[in-house]
Amino acid sequence: MKQIKAGIINVSGYIGAELARLLLRHPRVELTSVTGRSTAGKKLGDIFPSFSDVNLSISTEIDPGIDIAFSAMPHAASLDMVPYLLDKGIRVIDVSADFRLKNIGEYQSWYGVSHTSPDLVEEAVYGLPELHKPDISTARLIANPGCYATSIILALAPAMDKGFLCGDIIADSKSGVSGAGRALSQKTHYPETNEDTSAYSLQGHRHLPEIEQELKGLDPEIPLSLTFVPHMVPMTRGIMSSCYATVKSGVLGESEQAEKEIRQIYREFYKESPFVRIVDTPPHTKHTWGSNFCLIHPVIDRRTGRLIIISCLDNLVKGGAGQAVQNMNLMFGFPETNGLETLAIYP
Ligand SMILES: NC(=O)c1ccc[n+]([C@@H]2O[C@H](COP(=O)([O-])OP(=O)(O)OC[C@H]3O[C@@H](n4cnc5c(N)ncnc54)[C@H](OP(=O)(O)O)[C@@H]3O)[C@@H](O)[C@H]2O)c1
Repeated sequence: MKQIKAGIINVSGYIGAELARLLLRHPRVELTSVTGRSTAGKKLGDIFPSFSDVNLSISTEIDPGIDIAFSAMPHAASLDMVPYLLDKGIRVIDVSADFRLKNIGEYQSWYGVSHTSPDLVEEAVYGLPELHKPDISTARLIANPGCYATSIILALAPAMDKGFLCGDIIADSKSGVSGAGRALSQKTHYPETNEDTSAYSLQGHRHLPEIEQELKGLDPEIPLSLTFVPHMVPMTRGIMSSCYATVKSGVLGESEQAEKEIRQIYREFYKESPFVRIVDTPPHTKHTWGSNFCLIHPVIDRRTGRLIIISCLDNLVKGGAGQAVQNMNLMFGFPETNGLETLAIYP
């Protein structure tokens, strides 16, 4: 079977390592080139002992002979790298935020960086396969969505698409500590996070504008007023988003009937989406650990009529590296689930 050659830029971060884990077992991919900054010159297995049987050295430069590059750098750093890769004829999946926001002014104000390639922002496809599959398959450049953004957009998309929501929405999300990356910092230090839970970015998290961009794309008329509050919780992986939305009166039947209708609407919306499962009981983050699945449980609060949607995923897989591999599968015409069939580790 023909294989494509893939490279990972910045393999030494959490997303880079997760990409390596998935690509090294992908039936249609040969991982031929990985780069790092402080880790350059070492073997991949020296940095991550789980890859000790892999004969691959970490370089400073990516091999220009690859077919696809995954850029796993922090935002702003990707801005310099992506145009170079595209000029070499390499298709790119960028996991940072640098090409996600179509409004350059919004990018500059949320990220505090001047954008140097607005033309590429226009070209880039927001890599959420559940919404943009046809565009992903022909794209040269994919802007892989944020982890929180994936969990919230997938939770709200079917109801938004139907035009059922009034627009006043609250998304309350909990993330494991790996969401903050591998670089050391006091806020992710073990004594600070263990047995602790905290809210942050109350005046606006950077994933907010991409969530708004995608939700407005589904229902352009909606007077969207979205409050998104992220929390850090003491676990390694996982995101759970609890979303609360008021439903327009008269669009659903009464109580139990409404619940059946909404679940049916969600199942219909995701019928061609192999990694989204509509479940009948509230999912746990552990139900998704290590897998590319997003589990969604929509329910009607029978006292208030409000729609509650619980959504869980693994931030490093469906929220990052797994979604990037899913996008690659679509770009190269491979089955969407190739290399991503692993079920969650439980318990
Ligand atoms: N973590 C998640 O759950 C998640 C999910 C979705 C998307 N993302 C995105 O994925 C990207 C990587 O995230 P991550 O969590 O993997 O980060 P990470 O684990 O913190 O990796 C960042 C590493 O990148 C290296 N680095 C920092 N600045 C660099 C630069 N200018 N050029 C080259 N290397 C640099 C540093 O390694 P050295 O100092 O050792 O060189 C640092 O340790 C980010 O854009 C992030 O927003 C993360």
